[in-house]
Amino acid sequence: MRKDLQILLKKLRAYGVQNNIPNITDQVALFLSMLIRIKKPSLILEIGCANGYSTIWLAEAAEEVGARLHTIDHSAPTFEEARQNLGKAKLLQVVTFHFGDAVKIISQFDADLKFDFVFVDGEKASYLNFWQAIEGRLAAGAVIVFDDMMAFPEKTKPFSDFIVSAQGIDQLLIPIDADDGVLMIVKK
Ligand SMILES: C[S@@+](CC[C@H](N)C(=O)[O-])C[C@H]1O[C@@H](n2cnc3c(N)ncnc32)[C@H](O)[C@@H]1O
Repeated sequence: MRKDLQILLKKLRAYGVQNNIPNITDQVALFLSMLIRIKKPSLILEIGCANGYSTIWLAEAAEEVGARLHTIDHSAPTFEEARQNLGKAKLLQVVTFHFGDAVKIISQFDADLKFDFVFVDGEKASYLNFWQAIEGRLAAGAVIVFDDMMAFPEKTKPFSDFIVSAQGIDQLLIPIDADDGVLMIVKK
């Protein structure tokens, strides 16, 4: 990773801690970056960019493999901060920002927009709604990562209960950062 990006991410980490912005952990960030560089997707979707910490990680890997990234959030002013931070990261050219509710925005995407990598980090209680919104928008072989699946078991329960018996996917709960945990799904 570029040195200036490392410095920016370090500043954003400290800012997030000071301002109670629940940015992804270092291990989740690295995991996402590694997955993108292995999978080499064309079109990436992020639900929940907050102030853009995770978005910078995704965009940096996306640029390396020639992918585009769409990101969605419904909270101001962090959404504006995300745009500014991607500008500082010199990665704006990789990202399309969408302001509003993720389920509504995804329903308005062109029907032929198929994602082959998705990172979900929006409201935990809405994970099942997010899954239902993205399910029909996935390319074969798409990789989907849901963050915080072990951190908020009560909130993610409706989604966990549903996805455990879902057909047409492989899934693995990975205990990254012990009590954080991501669910990785690969669409068959
Ligand atoms: C945990 S924070 C995201 C942190 C970010 N991924 C990072 O690591 O820097 C969750 C974000 O999801 C957004 N969010 C929650 N529910 C949403 C929804 N239904 N539509 C759009 N954004 C949503 C919140 O506004 C918040 O900024």
